[in-house]
Amino acid sequence: MITTLLTWLLKRSPRAFIFTSGHPRCIDGEIPGLGLYLHIPFCRSLCRFCPYFKERFDPAAVEPFVAALKQEIRAAGELAHHSSVSSVYYGGGTPYLLGKHLQEIQDQIERSFAVEGPCGIELHPEDIDFDTSSKLRDAGFTMVSIGAQSFQANCLRVLGRTQGDVSSRIAMMKDAAMSVIDVDLIFGLPGQTAEDIQQDFRVAVASGATQISTYPFIDFTYANNPQRPLGRRRKKNLLKAVLEVSADLGFHRTSVWTFARKDSRRYSSVTRDNYIGFGPSAASLLPSGFSMNVFSVGEYIHAVEEGRSPTALEVDFTERERALFWLFWSIYNLHVSKADYFTLFGKPLDEMFGWELRLAAGMGLVKRRNDAYVVTARGAYLFHLVEQGYTDQYIDKVWGFARSTPWPEKLVIR
Ligand SMILES: C[S@@+](CC[C@H](N)C(=O)[O-])C[C@H]1O[C@@H](n2cnc3c(N)ncnc32)[C@H](O)[C@@H]1O
Ligand code: SF4
Repeated sequence: MITTLLTWLLKRSPRAFIFTSGHPRCIDGEIPGLGLYLHIPFCRSLCRFCPYFKERFDPAAVEPFVAALKQEIRAAGELAHHSSVSSVYYGGGTPYLLGKHLQEIQDQIERSFAVEGPCGIELHPEDIDFDTSSKLRDAGFTMVSIGAQSFQANCLRVLGRTQGDVSSRIAMMKDAAMSVIDVDLIFGLPGQTAEDIQQDFRVAVASGATQISTYPFIDFTYANNPQRPLGRRRKKNLLKAVLEVSADLGFHRTSVWTFARKDSRRYSSVTRDNYIGFGPSAASLLPSGFSMNVFSVGEYIHAVEEGRSPTALEVDFTERERALFWLFWSIYNLHVSKADYFTLFGKPLDEMFGWELRLAAGMGLVKRRNDAYVVTARGAYLFHLVEQGYTDQYIDKVWGFARSTPWPEKLVIR
Protein backbone atom coordinates (compact mmCIF):
# COMPACT_ATOMS: atom_id res chain seq x y z
CA MET A 1 0.00 0.00 0.00
CA ILE A 2 2.70 2.48 1.07
CA THR A 3 4.63 1.60 -2.11
CA THR A 4 1.59 2.19 -4.35
CA LEU A 5 0.79 5.55 -2.76
CA LEU A 6 4.38 6.70 -2.87
CA THR A 7 4.70 5.63 -6.50
CA TRP A 8 1.52 7.49 -7.49
CA LEU A 9 2.63 10.54 -5.55
CA LEU A 10 6.04 10.63 -7.16
CA LYS A 11 4.82 9.73 -10.63
CA ARG A 12 1.99 12.26 -10.15
CA SER A 13 -0.20 9.72 -11.91
CA PRO A 14 -1.99 6.48 -11.02
CA ARG A 15 -1.04 5.12 -14.46
CA ALA A 16 0.04 1.48 -14.21
CA PHE A 17 3.42 0.28 -15.46
CA ILE A 18 2.65 -1.40 -18.75
CA PHE A 19 5.15 -3.90 -20.09
CA THR A 20 4.70 -4.87 -23.71
CA SER A 21 6.36 -7.55 -25.80
CA GLY A 22 9.91 -6.49 -26.51
CA HIS A 23 11.40 -4.94 -29.61
CA PRO A 24 15.13 -5.00 -30.21
CA ARG A 25 16.75 -2.67 -27.68
CA CYS A 26 17.11 0.80 -29.11
CA ILE A 27 20.84 1.44 -28.93
CA ASP A 28 22.17 4.25 -31.03
CA GLY A 29 25.76 5.36 -30.61
CA GLU A 30 27.74 6.30 -27.48
CA ILE A 31 25.66 6.02 -24.26
CA PRO A 32 26.66 8.17 -21.25
CA GLY A 33 27.56 6.39 -17.98
CA LEU A 34 27.11 2.95 -19.51
CA GLY A 35 27.63 -0.27 -17.52
CA LEU A 36 27.36 -3.87 -18.73
CA TYR A 37 25.74 -6.75 -16.85
CA LEU A 38 25.97 -10.41 -17.91
CA HIS A 39 23.52 -12.89 -16.45
CA ILE A 40 24.88 -16.45 -16.30
CA PRO A 41 21.86 -18.62 -15.40
CA PHE A 42 23.47 -21.84 -14.18
CA CYS A 43 23.89 -23.24 -10.66
CA ARG A 44 25.16 -26.57 -9.32
CA SER A 45 21.95 -26.88 -7.30
CA LEU A 46 18.99 -24.53 -6.93
CA CYS A 47 18.58 -22.83 -3.54
CA ARG A 48 14.94 -22.78 -2.47
CA PHE A 49 15.00 -19.14 -1.28
CA CYS A 50 16.57 -17.65 -4.41
CA PRO A 51 14.37 -15.67 -6.84
CA TYR A 52 16.90 -15.16 -9.61
CA PHE A 53 16.43 -16.84 -12.95
CA LYS A 54 18.68 -19.91 -13.19
CA GLU A 55 18.69 -23.55 -14.24
CA ARG A 56 20.59 -26.56 -12.99
CA PHE A 57 24.03 -26.59 -14.63
CA ASP A 58 24.15 -28.78 -17.72
CA PRO A 59 27.64 -28.85 -19.32
CA ALA A 60 26.01 -29.57 -22.71
CA ALA A 61 24.21 -26.21 -22.63
CA VAL A 62 27.40 -24.18 -22.11
CA GLU A 63 28.76 -24.04 -25.68
CA PRO A 64 25.50 -22.87 -27.34
CA PHE A 65 24.85 -20.49 -24.46
CA VAL A 66 28.30 -18.87 -24.71
CA ALA A 67 28.00 -18.60 -28.50
CA ALA A 68 24.63 -16.82 -28.12
CA LEU A 69 25.96 -14.53 -25.39
CA LYS A 70 28.94 -13.50 -27.53
CA GLN A 71 26.61 -12.88 -30.46
CA GLU A 72 24.36 -10.68 -28.33
CA ILE A 73 27.39 -8.69 -27.08
CA ARG A 74 28.77 -8.31 -30.61
CA ALA A 75 25.45 -7.00 -31.97
CA ALA A 76 25.03 -4.49 -29.13
CA GLY A 77 28.63 -3.29 -29.47
CA GLU A 78 28.06 -2.53 -33.15
CA LEU A 79 24.91 -0.51 -32.41
CA ALA A 80 26.59 1.31 -29.53
CA HIS A 81 29.56 2.21 -31.77
CA HIS A 82 31.93 0.52 -29.33
CA SER A 83 30.78 2.87 -26.57
CA SER A 84 32.99 3.21 -23.51
CA VAL A 85 31.75 1.36 -20.42
CA SER A 86 32.47 2.24 -16.82
CA SER A 87 31.98 -1.26 -15.33
CA VAL A 88 31.26 -4.88 -16.23
CA TYR A 89 29.46 -7.19 -13.79
CA TYR A 90 28.79 -10.92 -14.08
CA GLY A 91 25.93 -12.21 -11.95
CA GLY A 92 23.61 -15.16 -11.86
CA GLY A 93 23.39 -17.90 -11.22
CA THR A 94 26.95 -18.91 -10.71
CA PRO A 95 29.08 -17.36 -13.47
CA TYR A 96 32.27 -19.13 -12.41
CA LEU A 97 30.76 -22.41 -13.67
CA LEU A 98 31.59 -21.21 -17.20
CA GLY A 99 35.27 -21.91 -16.46
CA LYS A 100 37.57 -21.17 -19.40
CA HIS A 101 34.69 -19.64 -21.36
CA LEU A 102 34.83 -16.58 -19.08
CA GLN A 103 38.02 -15.49 -20.83
CA GLU A 104 36.34 -15.92 -24.24
CA ILE A 105 33.43 -13.72 -23.16
CA GLN A 106 35.78 -11.12 -21.69
CA ASP A 107 37.64 -11.04 -25.02
CA GLN A 108 34.37 -10.45 -26.86
CA ILE A 109 33.50 -7.58 -24.52
CA GLU A 110 36.92 -6.03 -25.13
CA ARG A 111 36.37 -6.28 -28.90
CA SER A 112 32.88 -4.77 -28.72
CA PHE A 113 33.23 -2.02 -26.10
CA ALA A 114 35.92 0.29 -24.72
CA VAL A 115 36.12 -1.00 -21.15
CA GLU A 116 37.34 1.83 -18.92
CA GLY A 117 36.29 0.53 -15.52
CA PRO A 118 36.60 -2.54 -13.31
CA CYS A 119 35.10 -6.01 -13.85
CA GLY A 120 33.30 -7.84 -11.05
CA ILE A 121 31.89 -11.33 -10.65
CA GLU A 122 29.56 -13.11 -8.18
CA LEU A 123 30.99 -16.24 -6.62
CA HIS A 124 29.36 -19.09 -4.77
CA PRO A 125 31.62 -20.05 -1.82
CA GLU A 126 32.10 -23.48 -3.45
CA ASP A 127 33.73 -21.79 -6.46
CA ILE A 128 36.71 -20.73 -4.40
CA ASP A 129 39.93 -22.67 -4.06
CA PHE A 130 43.61 -21.74 -3.97
CA ASP A 131 43.84 -20.71 -7.64
CA THR A 132 40.45 -18.96 -8.14
CA SER A 133 41.93 -15.54 -7.51
CA SER A 134 44.73 -15.93 -10.07
CA LYS A 135 42.33 -17.35 -12.69
CA LEU A 136 40.01 -14.39 -12.20
CA ARG A 137 42.86 -11.91 -12.28
CA ASP A 138 44.11 -13.40 -15.58
CA ALA A 139 40.60 -12.96 -17.03
CA GLY A 140 40.57 -9.28 -15.99
CA PHE A 141 38.44 -9.37 -12.81
CA THR A 142 39.38 -7.22 -9.84
CA MET A 143 36.13 -7.36 -7.82
CA VAL A 144 34.22 -10.33 -6.38
CA SER A 145 30.95 -10.74 -4.51
CA ILE A 146 30.74 -13.91 -2.42
CA GLY A 147 27.32 -15.27 -1.40
CA ALA A 148 28.07 -16.45 2.14
CA GLN A 149 24.48 -15.67 3.38
CA SER A 150 25.46 -16.59 6.95
CA PHE A 151 28.14 -18.36 8.96
CA GLN A 152 25.63 -19.72 11.51
CA ALA A 153 24.39 -23.30 11.19
CA ASN A 154 20.84 -22.38 12.32
CA CYS A 155 20.51 -19.68 9.62
CA LEU A 156 21.98 -21.84 6.87
CA ARG A 157 19.51 -24.55 7.83
CA VAL A 158 16.57 -22.15 7.23
CA LEU A 159 18.01 -21.33 3.81
CA GLY A 160 18.64 -25.00 3.04
CA ARG A 161 22.32 -24.29 2.32
CA THR A 162 25.21 -26.48 3.36
CA GLN A 163 28.65 -25.06 2.88
CA GLY A 164 32.08 -25.78 4.32
CA ASP A 165 34.48 -23.34 5.88
CA VAL A 166 33.46 -20.21 3.99
CA SER A 167 35.60 -17.80 6.01
CA SER A 168 38.85 -19.46 4.92
CA ARG A 169 37.59 -19.42 1.32
CA ILE A 170 36.95 -15.68 1.55
CA ALA A 171 40.46 -15.28 2.95
CA MET A 172 41.84 -17.03 -0.18
CA MET A 173 40.54 -14.11 -2.26
CA LYS A 174 42.50 -11.64 -0.12
CA ASP A 175 44.97 -10.99 -2.82
CA ALA A 176 46.47 -7.70 -3.89
CA ALA A 177 44.76 -8.02 -7.29
CA MET A 178 41.22 -8.22 -5.86
CA SER A 179 40.50 -4.62 -4.92
CA VAL A 180 36.95 -5.36 -3.79
CA ILE A 181 35.72 -8.39 -1.84
CA ASP A 182 32.00 -8.11 -1.15
CA VAL A 183 30.32 -10.67 1.13
CA ASP A 184 26.53 -11.11 0.95
CA LEU A 185 24.65 -11.79 4.20
CA ILE A 186 20.90 -12.23 4.76
CA PHE A 187 19.07 -10.89 7.82
CA GLY A 188 15.52 -11.46 9.04
CA LEU A 189 15.73 -15.27 8.99
CA PRO A 190 13.45 -17.08 11.44
CA GLY A 191 15.37 -17.68 14.68
CA GLN A 192 18.18 -15.26 13.75
CA THR A 193 19.31 -13.00 16.60
CA ALA A 194 21.14 -9.65 16.71
CA GLU A 195 24.21 -11.55 17.96
CA ASP A 196 24.00 -13.92 14.95
CA ILE A 197 24.06 -11.13 12.37
CA GLN A 198 26.74 -9.17 14.25
CA GLN A 199 28.87 -12.31 14.44
CA ASP A 200 28.37 -12.89 10.68
CA PHE A 201 29.49 -9.33 9.98
CA ARG A 202 32.58 -9.73 12.18
CA VAL A 203 33.58 -13.06 10.59
CA ALA A 204 33.22 -11.62 7.09
CA VAL A 205 35.38 -8.60 7.95
CA ALA A 206 38.00 -10.73 9.73
CA SER A 207 38.20 -12.93 6.62
CA GLY A 208 39.09 -9.97 4.42
CA ALA A 209 35.79 -8.53 3.13
CA THR A 210 36.07 -4.91 1.99
CA GLN A 211 32.28 -4.61 1.68
CA ILE A 212 29.37 -6.33 3.38
CA SER A 213 25.93 -6.46 1.76
CA THR A 214 23.15 -7.26 4.22
CA TYR A 215 19.88 -8.13 2.45
CA PRO A 216 16.59 -8.50 4.29
CA PHE A 217 15.18 -11.98 3.76
CA ILE A 218 12.38 -11.81 1.15
CA ASP A 219 9.92 -14.65 0.70
CA PHE A 220 9.14 -14.61 -3.04
CA THR A 221 5.78 -16.13 -3.92
CA TYR A 222 7.40 -18.65 -6.28
CA ALA A 223 10.21 -19.62 -3.86
CA ASN A 224 10.03 -22.71 -1.73
CA ASN A 225 10.79 -21.39 1.76
CA PRO A 226 9.57 -23.59 4.61
CA GLN A 227 9.41 -20.58 7.00
CA ARG A 228 8.46 -16.91 6.68
CA PRO A 229 10.85 -13.99 7.30
CA LEU A 230 10.82 -12.22 10.65
CA GLY A 231 8.31 -9.40 11.06
CA ARG A 232 9.02 -5.73 10.51
CA ARG A 233 9.98 -4.89 14.10
CA ARG A 234 12.40 -7.78 14.52
CA LYS A 235 13.99 -7.02 11.15
CA LYS A 236 14.37 -3.42 12.34
CA ASN A 237 16.29 -4.64 15.42
CA LEU A 238 18.57 -6.75 13.24
CA LEU A 239 19.23 -3.79 10.93
CA LYS A 240 20.06 -1.70 14.00
CA ALA A 241 22.50 -4.41 15.10
CA VAL A 242 24.12 -4.28 11.63
CA LEU A 243 24.51 -0.48 11.89
CA GLU A 244 26.15 -0.86 15.32
CA VAL A 245 28.63 -3.53 14.30
CA SER A 246 29.56 -1.75 11.07
CA ALA A 247 30.31 1.45 13.01
CA ASP A 248 32.36 -0.58 15.54
CA LEU A 249 34.47 -2.05 12.75
CA GLY A 250 34.93 1.27 10.93
CA PHE A 251 32.76 0.33 7.95
CA HIS A 252 30.62 3.14 6.54
CA ARG A 253 27.19 2.82 5.04
CA THR A 254 27.37 3.14 1.24
CA SER A 255 23.75 2.30 0.51
CA VAL A 256 20.65 1.25 2.40
CA TRP A 257 21.98 -2.34 2.58
CA THR A 258 25.75 -2.09 1.98
CA PHE A 259 28.70 -1.19 4.18
CA ALA A 260 32.27 -0.68 3.00
CA ARG A 261 35.74 -0.23 4.39
CA LYS A 262 36.58 3.46 4.13
CA ASP A 263 39.38 3.15 1.57
CA SER A 264 37.56 0.69 -0.67
CA ARG A 265 35.71 1.00 -3.96
CA ARG A 266 32.10 -0.26 -4.13
CA TYR A 267 30.71 -3.44 -5.63
CA SER A 268 27.37 -2.39 -7.08
CA SER A 269 25.90 -3.97 -10.17
CA VAL A 270 22.52 -2.21 -10.22
CA THR A 271 23.22 1.43 -9.61
CA ARG A 272 24.28 2.69 -13.04
CA ASP A 273 22.82 5.57 -15.08
CA ASN A 274 22.49 3.33 -18.12
CA TYR A 275 23.21 -0.35 -18.53
CA ILE A 276 22.92 -3.12 -21.08
CA GLY A 277 22.13 -6.58 -19.74
CA PHE A 278 23.12 -9.71 -21.67
CA GLY A 279 21.84 -13.26 -21.18
CA PRO A 280 18.43 -14.64 -20.18
CA SER A 281 16.39 -12.43 -17.79
CA ALA A 282 18.98 -9.63 -17.90
CA ALA A 283 17.53 -6.13 -17.71
CA SER A 284 18.69 -3.08 -19.68
CA LEU A 285 18.14 0.56 -18.79
CA LEU A 286 18.71 2.92 -21.70
CA PRO A 287 17.62 6.47 -22.51
CA SER A 288 14.80 4.89 -24.55
CA GLY A 289 13.41 2.76 -21.71
CA PHE A 290 13.68 -0.36 -19.62
CA SER A 291 13.63 -3.89 -21.01
CA MET A 292 14.18 -7.50 -19.98
CA ASN A 293 15.43 -10.51 -21.88
CA VAL A 294 13.47 -13.75 -22.08
CA PHE A 295 13.44 -15.92 -18.92
CA SER A 296 14.44 -19.20 -20.59
CA VAL A 297 17.87 -20.48 -21.60
CA GLY A 298 16.51 -22.49 -24.56
CA GLU A 299 14.38 -19.61 -25.88
CA TYR A 300 17.27 -17.19 -25.43
CA ILE A 301 19.67 -19.34 -27.45
CA HIS A 302 17.03 -19.96 -30.11
CA ALA A 303 16.19 -16.29 -30.53
CA VAL A 304 19.83 -15.20 -30.86
CA GLU A 305 20.69 -18.09 -33.21
CA GLU A 306 17.79 -17.05 -35.46
CA GLY A 307 18.89 -13.42 -35.44
CA ARG A 308 15.85 -12.34 -33.36
CA SER A 309 16.04 -10.07 -30.34
CA PRO A 310 16.05 -11.89 -26.96
CA THR A 311 14.15 -8.94 -25.43
CA ALA A 312 10.82 -10.25 -24.07
CA LEU A 313 9.34 -7.26 -22.21
CA GLU A 314 9.83 -3.53 -22.28
CA VAL A 315 8.44 -0.40 -20.68
CA ASP A 316 8.55 2.99 -22.34
CA PHE A 317 9.06 5.38 -19.48
CA THR A 318 7.63 8.87 -19.46
CA GLU A 319 10.30 11.48 -18.73
CA ARG A 320 9.12 11.60 -15.11
CA GLU A 321 9.18 7.81 -14.71
CA ARG A 322 12.73 7.67 -16.08
CA ALA A 323 13.76 10.40 -13.62
CA LEU A 324 11.96 8.53 -10.84
CA PHE A 325 13.92 5.37 -11.59
CA TRP A 326 17.12 7.41 -11.24
CA LEU A 327 15.84 8.98 -8.00
CA PHE A 328 14.97 5.54 -6.57
CA TRP A 329 18.52 4.22 -7.02
CA SER A 330 20.10 7.50 -5.90
CA ILE A 331 18.13 7.29 -2.65
CA TYR A 332 19.22 3.64 -2.32
CA ASN A 333 22.80 4.98 -2.54
CA LEU A 334 21.93 7.61 0.12
CA HIS A 335 23.07 10.46 -2.12
CA VAL A 336 20.97 12.43 -4.63
CA SER A 337 23.37 14.55 -6.68
CA LYS A 338 22.02 17.63 -8.45
CA ALA A 339 25.02 17.70 -10.80
CA ASP A 340 24.53 14.05 -11.83
CA TYR A 341 20.85 14.69 -12.47
CA PHE A 342 21.68 17.69 -14.64
CA THR A 343 24.27 15.73 -16.65
CA LEU A 344 21.79 12.93 -17.31
CA PHE A 345 18.55 14.85 -17.87
CA GLY A 346 19.75 18.32 -18.94
CA LYS A 347 17.61 20.16 -16.39
CA PRO A 348 17.74 20.99 -12.67
CA LEU A 349 16.72 18.26 -10.22
CA ASP A 350 14.50 20.69 -8.29
CA GLU A 351 12.49 21.38 -11.44
CA MET A 352 11.34 17.73 -11.43
CA PHE A 353 11.30 16.82 -7.73
CA GLY A 354 11.58 20.21 -5.97
CA TRP A 355 8.61 20.04 -3.61
CA GLU A 356 8.96 16.31 -2.92
CA LEU A 357 12.58 16.80 -1.82
CA ARG A 358 11.65 19.85 0.27
CA LEU A 359 8.93 17.78 1.93
CA ALA A 360 11.41 14.93 2.56
CA ALA A 361 13.85 17.46 4.07
CA GLY A 362 11.05 18.83 6.28
CA MET A 363 10.31 15.30 7.50
CA GLY A 364 13.97 14.66 8.31
CA LEU A 365 14.37 12.01 5.59
CA VAL A 366 17.04 13.90 3.63
CA LYS A 367 19.42 16.77 4.36
CA ARG A 368 20.54 19.42 1.91
CA ARG A 369 24.31 19.40 1.51
CA ASN A 370 26.11 21.55 -1.09
CA ASP A 371 25.05 20.19 -4.44
CA ALA A 372 23.14 17.15 -3.15
CA TYR A 373 20.48 15.71 -0.87
CA VAL A 374 21.93 13.21 1.58
CA VAL A 375 19.60 10.52 2.96
CA THR A 376 19.44 10.47 6.79
CA ALA A 377 19.29 7.33 8.97
CA ARG A 378 15.52 7.87 9.24
CA GLY A 379 15.21 8.20 5.47
CA ALA A 380 17.31 5.07 4.97
CA TYR A 381 15.01 3.09 7.26
CA LEU A 382 11.93 4.27 5.35
CA PHE A 383 13.63 3.31 2.10
CA HIS A 384 14.47 -0.13 3.52
CA LEU A 385 10.70 -0.62 3.95
CA VAL A 386 9.84 0.88 0.57
CA GLU A 387 12.36 -1.27 -1.27
CA GLN A 388 10.96 -4.45 0.30
CA GLY A 389 7.44 -3.30 -0.68
CA TYR A 390 8.68 -2.59 -4.20
CA THR A 391 10.21 -6.09 -4.36
CA ASP A 392 6.90 -7.69 -3.31
CA GLN A 393 4.78 -5.53 -5.51
CA TYR A 394 6.80 -5.24 -8.71
CA ILE A 395 9.81 -7.55 -8.89
CA ASP A 396 8.04 -10.64 -7.54
CA LYS A 397 5.13 -10.15 -9.98
CA VAL A 398 7.21 -9.36 -13.04
CA TRP A 399 9.77 -12.13 -12.52
CA GLY A 400 7.09 -14.66 -11.49
CA PHE A 401 5.12 -13.90 -14.66
CA ALA A 402 8.17 -13.82 -16.95
CA ARG A 403 9.32 -17.24 -15.69
CA SER A 404 5.99 -18.82 -16.64
CA THR A 405 5.42 -16.90 -19.90
CA PRO A 406 8.61 -16.54 -21.96
CA TRP A 407 7.16 -14.32 -24.70
CA PRO A 408 4.26 -12.36 -23.13
CA GLU A 409 2.06 -9.97 -25.08
CA LYS A 410 1.53 -7.57 -22.21
CA LEU A 411 1.89 -7.24 -18.43
CA VAL A 412 0.16 -4.53 -16.39
CA ILE A 413 1.50 -3.80 -12.90
CA ARG A 414 -0.43 -1.38 -10.69
C1 LIG B 1 22.41 -13.92 -7.44
S1 LIG B 1 22.44 -14.21 -5.75
C2 LIG B 1 23.80 -15.32 -5.50
C3 LIG B 1 25.16 -15.40 -5.62
C4 LIG B 1 25.81 -16.82 -5.63
N1 LIG B 1 25.30 -17.61 -6.70
C5 LIG B 1 25.62 -17.58 -4.34
O1 LIG B 1 24.70 -18.34 -4.20
O2 LIG B 1 26.47 -17.46 -3.47
C6 LIG B 1 22.92 -12.68 -5.05
C7 LIG B 1 22.53 -12.50 -3.60
O3 LIG B 1 21.14 -12.23 -3.43
C8 LIG B 1 20.78 -12.49 -2.09
N2 LIG B 1 19.48 -13.18 -2.05
C9 LIG B 1 19.09 -14.21 -2.81
N3 LIG B 1 17.82 -14.58 -2.48
C10 LIG B 1 17.41 -13.76 -1.49
C11 LIG B 1 16.20 -13.64 -0.74
N4 LIG B 1 15.16 -14.44 -0.95
N5 LIG B 1 16.13 -12.66 0.20
C12 LIG B 1 17.18 -11.84 0.41
N6 LIG B 1 18.35 -11.91 -0.27
C13 LIG B 1 18.47 -12.85 -1.20
C14 LIG B 1 21.87 -13.40 -1.51
O4 LIG B 1 22.55 -12.73 -0.49
C15 LIG B 1 22.75 -13.68 -2.71
O5 LIG B 1 24.10 -13.85 -2.37
S1 SF4 C 1 21.60 -18.41 -4.27
FE1 SF4 C 1 23.22 -18.59 -5.78
S2 SF4 C 1 23.64 -20.80 -5.96
FE2 SF4 C 1 21.67 -20.57 -4.96
S3 SF4 C 1 20.20 -20.69 -6.63
FE3 SF4 C 1 20.60 -18.49 -6.27
S4 SF4 C 1 22.20 -17.97 -7.67
FE4 SF4 C 1 22.15 -20.22 -7.53
